[in-house]
Amino acid sequence: GWFKPYIYLYQHIWYAPAQLQALISFQKHFQAKDSDIIIASLPKSGTTWLKALTFAIVNRNRFSPSKHNHPLLISNAHELVPFFEFHDCKTNQIPDFSNLSDPRLFGTHVPCHSLPDSITMSRCRIIYICRNPLDNFVSFWFFYNKIVPPLSPKLSLEEAFERYSEGNSVLGPFWTNILGYWRQGKETPNKVLFLKYEDLKGDTKFYLKRVAEFLDCPFNLAEEGNGVIEKMIELCSFRKMKESAELNKKVKVMQKYENKDFFRKGEVGDWVNHFSPWMKEKLSKVIEEKLGGSGLSF
Ligand code: PPS
Repeated sequence: GWFKPYIYLYQHIWYAPAQLQALISFQKHFQAKDSDIIIASLPKSGTTWLKALTFAIVNRNRFSPSKHNHPLLISNAHELVPFFEFHDCKTNQIPDFSNLSDPRLFGTHVPCHSLPDSITMSRCRIIYICRNPLDNFVSFWFFYNKIVPPLSPKLSLEEAFERYSEGNSVLGPFWTNILGYWRQGKETPNKVLFLKYEDLKGDTKFYLKRVAEFLDCPFNLAEEGNGVIEKMIELCSFRKMKESAELNKKVKVMQKYENKDFFRKGEVGDWVNHFSPWMKEKLSKVIEEKLGGSGLSF
């Protein structure tokens, strides 16, 4: 299940049992390389999109974004950029990542205080994507309620909302995850780049350049001139990614989910279609209370 009482509290965060086991084996065994890149986020914040964009940026010399058989078209972002904490961990081992080429890209929903030491100590870099919690919740509810595991009950929008806004849903409380990376990004801007889904939607080109600079592979003048950035934006657009997820049924991201389940609407502000006035008031209050003093706003 994705809500209390089916989840466990570990280092101040709620986890599904299998995820927690996987996280603990990662904390024990993962060896980061200085060249590794970590895409961190809360679930349903734009992870899949940022994984794709980052993959396209760092591999642009191997795979031109206009290639008809670009890996992002024939495989998918979660296959190319695996999550730390979603793997079968019966053996207390971590998966073999020897098939990943350098720089290796990983995804995680774990807060920064629980990342394996070797990530914190090495020179590897972290890109965090944050989304307005109102939209984040709506996306979260659609995803988990649609693909609910057989043993846990479906929750109404209102019930799920109560648990989310009180911090009692998987990977929550949301403010702990967001604040940790936000502060780290302020303290060590060369280590952590903090992005917002809304900004990335608003000016994708600007933030793509920002990501490339952060990763020490800025676009050169020739690239700026030949439209490579625009091609990447198109390759990773909601429409294109959804379309290839529908075509590539054979590559499955995770056993439980279909690739297409990661693409619903891809818009900013969909919360207005689902929130009642009291929900808006309640979550805004929580956001103000928990994030108000941080300088972060939505
Ligand atoms: S997950 O399960 O944590 O990896 O999910 P995540 O990718 O973080 O979040 C899914 C939401 O992101 C939207 N999405 C996109 N938006 C814009 N552009 C692209 N390319 C894109 N790909 C996925 C997806 O539709 C989910 O948001 P909602 O609001 O539910 O549509």
